[in-house]
Amino acid sequence: MSDKAVPDGPAVFDGDAWWRDAVVYQIYPRSFADADGDGQGDLPGALARLDHLADLGVDAVWLSPFYPSPLADGGYDVAHYTDVDPRYGTLADFDAYVAAAAARDIKVIVDIVPNHCSAAHPRFRQALAAGPGSPEREWFLFRDEPNNWQSMFGGPAWTQTPDGQWYLHLFDSAQPDWNWRHPGVTAMFEDVLRFWLDRGVSGFRIDVAAMLFKEDGLPDVVPGSQGAPLAPGRSAVPYEHQPELLELYRSWRKILAAYPGPRGTVAEIWFADPAQARPYLTGDGLAQLFNFRLMPLPWSAAEFRAVIEESHRLARETGGSIPWVLGNHDVPRMATRFGIDQDLVRAPTADVLLGRVAVDHELGRRRARAATLLLLALPGAAYLYQGDELGLPEYLDMPAQARQDPMFERTGRAFIGRDGCRVPLPWSGTSAPYGFGPGGTWLPQPADWAHLTVAAQRDDPGSTLNLHRAAIALRREHPALGDGDLTWLDAPPGVLALTREPGFTLMVNFGPDAVPLPPHHDVLLASGPLDGGVLPADTAVWLS
Ligand code: NOJ
Repeated sequence: MSDKAVPDGPAVFDGDAWWRDAVVYQIYPRSFADADGDGQGDLPGALARLDHLADLGVDAVWLSPFYPSPLADGGYDVAHYTDVDPRYGTLADFDAYVAAAAARDIKVIVDIVPNHCSAAHPRFRQALAAGPGSPEREWFLFRDEPNNWQSMFGGPAWTQTPDGQWYLHLFDSAQPDWNWRHPGVTAMFEDVLRFWLDRGVSGFRIDVAAMLFKEDGLPDVVPGSQGAPLAPGRSAVPYEHQPELLELYRSWRKILAAYPGPRGTVAEIWFADPAQARPYLTGDGLAQLFNFRLMPLPWSAAEFRAVIEESHRLARETGGSIPWVLGNHDVPRMATRFGIDQDLVRAPTADVLLGRVAVDHELGRRRARAATLLLLALPGAAYLYQGDELGLPEYLDMPAQARQDPMFERTGRAFIGRDGCRVPLPWSGTSAPYGFGPGGTWLPQPADWAHLTVAAQRDDPGSTLNLHRAAIALRREHPALGDGDLTWLDAPPGVLALTREPGFTLMVNFGPDAVPLPPHHDVLLASGPLDGGVLPADTAVWLS
């Protein structure tokens, strides 16, 4: 798709930047496909299912961490940055995966987790053993007294060691934060980047990309300023957006640029305010920043339009690329988000955080299909989360004893955590493990997923899987889609309508009543049945 025009503006990256209009599929390896029967997905399992991605037509795959890890945070606790956890296979399996993906014209990007490692990482073990005041402790953030920072997973961000010192962990206590002011840390991660670039990856997804550097002196946060990263008006905290990040990412960019073929980075940065994103987008470091701002939205035309307008303006003005996202391994699945009372999406109650909420699955699925056509019609790149192409719902009723996300316990079980969107994928069959692998599954699967398997959807022209295939195929062919501009059309309340040149119209009906379609030549694709010239509620359509 790289031959399409890039927008005007101070773009830093050239037209070969494949990521600017790519459709990227996220694999959460533990839950994708299991080849060896241990109940956890693995790279050979993913390899065996590579044609699923080829059939979908995606440009690239992002592999969430598969590195050796005690799995205290699903692999985002890395014990060894340049190896494959034996549960997921070997480096040879990784090489085979990259080669097989390349043979299908699919690029591979991998996760890099630079903010923290696992408490099992040899350097952290050495730091613990070496004791207070040792050079080994300088690699991390050990202090004699903690400050008031809270972990993103709940509870204090500091844990005391037996010798009395405390170490910082912005996430779980099993994930100590690196000290990014230590030159050894910088050099180590440069080697990690080169290691995976040498193995043929096309880029990196950077975990927790805004938090690596902490303000000197680790000052307390202003009470009340911590909290949901997308909360409007949330003020900056001293462990986010430090100026050194821009220089770091510039240096990483140079490392990537030394390799053939443009290779990019997509940063996990949750920005509530476009002003926070601007410095990264206008610099010559990060190629992309995820745009997570659609994910917390209720099903509302006005709220979607406001975020799309603001994000698109930001991308145009900076020349940067902010791929759209509607789901990932950290948030409840959209088929469920859109199927609950939408006031509860705006302001989740304690019951919602515990998954105790009524879900209209049919409604949620219909809206999720419409949202997918919206996502894939917007200017720029888009990320799809594994299982969303099947319309999977969140598994809200997962038994408490099966839950593994550290957020569940660290919040004192006030939040069920993220396991419900990480359930192993259903591939075939009528009962668990639904073809996931020859053994069981590390998280249980719901009993009523037979109709959601890939096999069940493959030959059904109306399936959510086939909607994705058709949309991605059209997106590849249609000259208006991918990167570029958009123009809003007048539309009745509750409806979004926009055109893209040449000759493409998107219309999404968020409202409760059918609305007339605008003048058009052909219906290219619709997310649900169209009744004689009108667009029903909770439906999207692509027109030419
Ligand atoms: C963001 C990842 O997406 C999430 O799964 C993880 O728990 C945190 N970063 C910590 O690494």
